This record gives sequence, C-alpha cells and structure tokens, in this order.
Amino acid sequence: MSALEMIAKRVEEKPIPSQVAFELLKIIDDEDHSMRQVIQLVENDASLTTEVLKVANTATYRRGEPISTINRAVMLLGEMMVVGVSICASSSIVFHSALEGYDSERGEMWDHSLRSAIAARELSKYAKRKISPGLAFTAGLLHDIGKSVLSEFLVGSSEKLTQQCESGEVADYLEAERTLVGTDHAQIGYALAKQWSLPDVLAAAIRDHHVPAKADENHRALVYTVHLSDLVSMLGGAGTGSDALAYSMDDNYQDYISISRDELPLLLLNVQEEFLKIKKFFTQPAKVA
Ligand SMILES: [Fe+2]
Ligand SMILES: [Fe+2]
Repeated sequence: MSALEMIAKRVEEKPIPSQVAFELLKIIDDEDHSMRQVIQLVENDASLTTEVLKVANTATYRRGEPISTINRAVMLLGEMMVVGVSICASSSIVFHSALEGYDSERGEMWDHSLRSAIAARELSKYAKRKISPGLAFTAGLLHDIGKSVLSEFLVGSSEKLTQQCESGEVADYLEAERTLVGTDHAQIGYALAKQWSLPDVLAAAIRDHHVPAKADENHRALVYTVHLSDLVSMLGGAGTGSDALAYSMDDNYQDYISISRDELPLLLLNVQEEFLKIKKFFTQPAKVA
C-alpha cells in the first residue's frame, strides 16, 4: 500500500472530534432551525451542559449575575461558539495526542489550536465582511486537524523537512510535506472535513489556511481570519513543533481584515491573556500516549 493510500485509510478511520458538535452543525446548517433545537441538544449532554455553563460564566461572556440556565448560556455564546466549546471539551485524541512527526509534545496541538481559535474570534471583529465570532473560533480550532493524520507519516523526517524550508529548497512546510508524502496537512484536513460533512466554509478554512488567496471569494474573509490567527498563535510561541513559523504570511490579508501589523502585538497580548483565562475552564486533556 502506498503512503497516499495509507493516509486515505487513516482519514476514513478518523472519528469526528465531537459527535455532539457534528449534530449541532447539522442543525445549524438547516436555515429553518430554531435556537430551541440547539438548546435541547446541549441539555441532553451532561458534560457539554457543564462546559457551556463554565464558558458562559467566564469574564469574557458574563455580564452581571451568574448564568445558571442553558437557555441563557446558549443565547449569550451563540450557536457556533457552542460548537467550538463542544469540540474543545471533547477529550478526543485528535487534539490531545503528541504529534510525533512534528516533534510536538502532547498538549502542543491543543495549545496551538485553542490559541488560534481565540485569535480567530478576536480577528473576526476586524473582518470587513461580517463573520460569526463562533464560526471563526471553530475554524481556528480545526484548521490543523490534518496533522493528526499526517504526523504518523512524518516520523523521523522533521529535521529534513525543516532543513528544506531553511535552505529555500521548498517554499514552506506544506510543500516539504508534499515532497515527502505527496500530500499535506491542509489537504488531509480538507478530506477529514468532507468526511465529517462539515460546512463548506469550515472545509475551506481548513484547506486554504496557508494559502488564503486560493479560497473561493465568498469564504475568503474567514480563511484570511484563520490564516492570520494561525500566525498570531505561532508568534505567541504556540506552534505544533518542527513546522512553527515555516509558513509565509499573505500580506493581502488587509483586504479582508482591518488590522495593521502594528496592532498585532496588542492582539497577541489579548489572545495570550484570554487563553490563560479560558484554558482552565475546559476539561483537561485525556491521558493518552
Ligand atoms: Fe497549518
Ligand atoms: Fe496552525
């Protein structure tokens, strides 16, 4: 079996990070859905109920009195943020295992993804086209999901790939991945998104997060948001190992997001602060090897 065939097999076997998130996305995708359906689904899941209440009671969301009902919590967070919370809260190995192929320790993928999610949510406020902050959060969370499959096929190659990037032999880490195995973590992430029937806009954010200009025009604002959030997360010191900062920034992001480079350090500080606050509200990663 070729590496590409094995990767395709692994994609097929990969469970969705959160079944409830999947159900929620299906409900939200139906234009005629009601908030009541979202609330009901959350109420039927005891651990998600706890997580949603925890997040709604963080300083970021809560105004005044403690929030004790799911109804209020969901209204406050917005439905896409509830999806993000359900993915975050899942103790799936998708986020919490080490990415050996990237020389990344257990927890690093989680840190990088959560910081990117927070950064994307913050950046969505600057988007020139309206983006739901919850959608941006979820996209930020999932953008590198392909690494959870590809990592296994890169074991022992990180030094070589890093060197190829440094010498300019390849344009970036994505190209280095393609040179080695014929595909890259963005394409694999896209295959996972399709398999899990994620909405097109999320699939686009995953596939094009390193090359946002390639995204369909109608998805580009979110894709640029995720592109920038990924860099903010890496600049803040949270990468996933050997590929940290081995990608280029698309300077045209300002066509979609009204934030200057000078404003990014402050955003980075805010993301860092928010990350430390929000991190402790989520279930600790499951102990997996
Ligand atoms: Fe990536
Ligand atoms: Fe990333």
